Amino acid sequence: MKTTEAAQEAVHEGLDGVIVANTQLSKVDGALGRLVIRGYDVEALAGELPFEAVCSLLWWGKAQPEAVRDALAAARVQAFAALDTLGDALAACDGMEALRAALAHRVEGETPTATLTQLTGALAVFAGAWARIQAGERPVAPDPGRGHAEDTLRMLTGREPTPAQARALDAYLATVAEHGMNASTFAARVVASTGSDAVSAVVAALGALKGPLHGGAPGPVLDMLDAIARPEAAASWLEAELSAGRRIMGMGHRIYRVRDPRAAVLERAVETLESSGDAVGHRLPLARAVEEAAGEALRARYPQRSLEANVEFYTAVLLDAIGLDRTHFTPTFAIARVAGWLAHVTEQRERGRLIRPVARYVGPVPSAA
Ligand code: COA
Repeated sequence: MKTTEAAQEAVHEGLDGVIVANTQLSKVDGALGRLVIRGYDVEALAGELPFEAVCSLLWWGKAQPEAVRDALAAARVQAFAALDTLGDALAACDGMEALRAALAHRVEGETPTATLTQLTGALAVFAGAWARIQAGERPVAPDPGRGHAEDTLRMLTGREPTPAQARALDAYLATVAEHGMNASTFAARVVASTGSDAVSAVVAALGALKGPLHGGAPGPVLDMLDAIARPEAAASWLEAELSAGRRIMGMGHRIYRVRDPRAAVLERAVETLESSGDAVGHRLPLARAVEEAAGEALRARYPQRSLEANVEFYTAVLLDAIGLDRTHFTPTFAIARVAGWLAHVTEQRERGRLIRPVARYVGPVPSAA
């Protein structure tokens, strides 16, 4: 056996900077810290347009919230009626595993449009049912008369949300619905590129989102805020983490070289919620102090690399402030991001080619006879 000679071409570990598709859906400008979704800056969507409008923008390029609102409401009712057929899927102790298992029972809708709304409605219902079952309660039935964010919050917490809390969740869902070729979106597009179905694409995306380097970060961000507890304790706590070789959750990003614009949008949404008096707790001052201290500590360690707050930092603060348990955070991310995944599945089917990169073999080969 001999080892193959290394080829000359560079290996793009992590696919950094590799452009794999043209997309109409979003532009992530990492240098400027700008996110444009279907022609709108993210700041013009969050808190300005309901999640339903963002879905219709992503799916059809037009803000048609009424059509999506009714279809999503019907989809929630339909998904709730199907809960009995899911067996033990929702008993899984991890929310993302529960979503993955529950969604795997679905088949595509009769039309592409039905599939979009049915899967988006179903994820909210499954996450809500899982949350209530974990709390030892019965799932809360959807109320089709409500908007998607408000109804989702009811189903997740089992409580009547205040209008300010529902608006905060709506702003969150709009902010994180779409974000370029991130790992879960790429996973969905790879599956779609083989001609497979949308359910399989979303199940693959759920698996990618589950990981702590992608959608699993906000729970640990809240753990960090709990552990630090006082602004004065931030610097030494962070230093100890970094010295132990651990990453600071909610900081750093593959694309952004400045602060993630979604961090600012969500920080403002928390501020609005806290000033309404309807926030559960009052974590914003501590979060801001920790963000500042983390930025300083990371700048000292990695002076060449800008590691600023990412979306997960204030996601944790916002979702906590509307009364969600930290175990609900990643499933709630999925409730929003499924809209983007499905838009990418559609786009991949329309224009895409089978995604099939190559790997350089560096193992042994048998000697020629
Ligand atoms: N805490 C501590 N160190 C970090 C860090 C963080 N949050 N983010 C990056 N680094 C370090 C890396 O370990 C690396 O150090 P090394 O060269 O000594 O190995 C260096 O900074 C450069 O890393 P980079 O190439 O920028 O990271 P990446 O692009 O591979 O990773 C993330 C991007 C998001 C995975 C990374 O920043 C991270 O793990 N953040 C925490 C998890 C998180 O918040 N995820 C949600 C993302 S939206």
